[in-house]
Amino acid sequence: MRSSTDIRSTTDVLVIGGGIIGLVTAWRAARRGLSVAVADPDPGRGAARVAAGMLAAVTELHYGEETLLGLDLASAARYPAFVAELEEASGLGTGYRACGTLAVALDADDRAHLRELHALQTRCGLSSTWLSGRECRRLEPMLAPGVRGGLRVDGDHQVDPRRLAAALLTACERAGVVLHRTLAARLTVTGGRARGAVLADGTALAAGQVVLAAGSLSGRLAGVPEEVVPPVRPVKGQVLRLRIPAPYAPFLSRTVRAVVRGSHVYLVPREDGELVVGATSEELGWDTTVTAGGVYELLRDAHELVPGLTELPLTETLAGLRPGSPDNAPMLGPTALPGLLLATGHYRNGILLTPITGDVMAEALTTGVLPEEARPFSPRRFSPATSARQEQPA
Ligand code: GLY
Repeated sequence: MRSSTDIRSTTDVLVIGGGIIGLVTAWRAARRGLSVAVADPDPGRGAARVAAGMLAAVTELHYGEETLLGLDLASAARYPAFVAELEEASGLGTGYRACGTLAVALDADDRAHLRELHALQTRCGLSSTWLSGRECRRLEPMLAPGVRGGLRVDGDHQVDPRRLAAALLTACERAGVVLHRTLAARLTVTGGRARGAVLADGTALAAGQVVLAAGSLSGRLAGVPEEVVPPVRPVKGQVLRLRIPAPYAPFLSRTVRAVVRGSHVYLVPREDGELVVGATSEELGWDTTVTAGGVYELLRDAHELVPGLTELPLTETLAGLRPGSPDNAPMLGPTALPGLLLATGHYRNGILLTPITGDVMAEALTTGVLPEEARPFSPRRFSPATSARQEQPA
C-alpha cells in the first residue's frame, strides 16, 4: 500500500473528472503537446450517460442569457469539424445528426409562450420559422392532430452523448492521456498554488496545472480554498429511452419538443432507432432516484405530443445531475488560486458546449490566457473580493 506522500506521476496537467467536459479538456490539451492525466473512477460516464444530446442553442434560448447564447452558437458552429476530427482520432462514430428541431405548441398558452420565444430569437438575430399546426404535421406526421403551431429551427441538431464520451475516451488514450480510474480525494495546495491531487487510494499526483471538471461534484473536492470553491449545484433530470422498431421507422425525423403546462418535454430520435424522451428539472440535491411521478409526467406530456409513442418499448429510465451555476453559464479558465482552473457549471448545455470548452481550456492551459470568447465565463465573476481587487488601479 502506498503512503499518502508517494508521488506516482507528474504531468503538465491533471484533470479531475473524466466526464465529457474533463475528457474534451484532456484530449485538446494533449493535442497541443501537453502531458495530461485524468482522475475519475469511471471515465466517460457521468451526466453524459443520461443527456439526450440536443445541440439546442436556438430552441433553448432564455431571457437574460444572451451572453451565453454567443458561446452556445460558437460551439454549435464548431460541431461538424469537431466531430470529424474526433471520429478520425478515435475511429468511433459520435451519432452527430444535422437534423434540425421542431418546437410545437399544444394549446393557446403554449402557443403564446412559443410566440414569445420566436420574438426573442428574432431580436437576437436567430433563424427560426413559424409554422401552422398543419405545416408542423406535414413535417412530422406522428404529431398529435391538436398541435396549434410551431417553430422550425433548422440549425439545432443532435449528437449521441454516450458515443461522444466513448469517442473522447478512446481519443484521450490514443493521445497518451493517462487515466487514473480512482476518485480524486483532495486537491494539493502548497505555497499558495495548486500542485496536484491525492487520490482515494493514497496516490499523490503532481501537475503543473489542475483542472477541476467534476460536473455537479465540482464544489465538493476537499482541499480547495473556500474562496475558489465553484458554486455548482446538482439539478436532477429524469430521462427515458424507448426503441423504435423497424416497422415504425421513421417515427420522427428531427428533434420534437414542447412546453406542456409549463414543463419542457423533448423527443430526440437517433439514427439507430433509439428515442430519448426528457427531461425533468428538479432541485433535490444529490437524489438520483427515478420516480413513478417523473416517468409518468414525461410519458404523459410526450404522449400528448406524439400519441403513437405509447406503442414503443420502454428500454431505460435514468436520472442524472446537471451541474447548475448561479447564472446558468459555465465557469471556464483560471481561478484566483494559481495553478487551478475550472471547466464546470455547464448546466443544460454541457454537450453543446463540449467543442468550445475543449478549445478554450487547451488555449488557457498552453498560453495562460483565456480566449476572448470565454472571458465572460471566467470563474472569477463569482469571487467579488478578487474581482474588486483586480479592478483597482495599480
Ligand atoms: N438541455 C436539456 C436539458 O438540460 O434537459
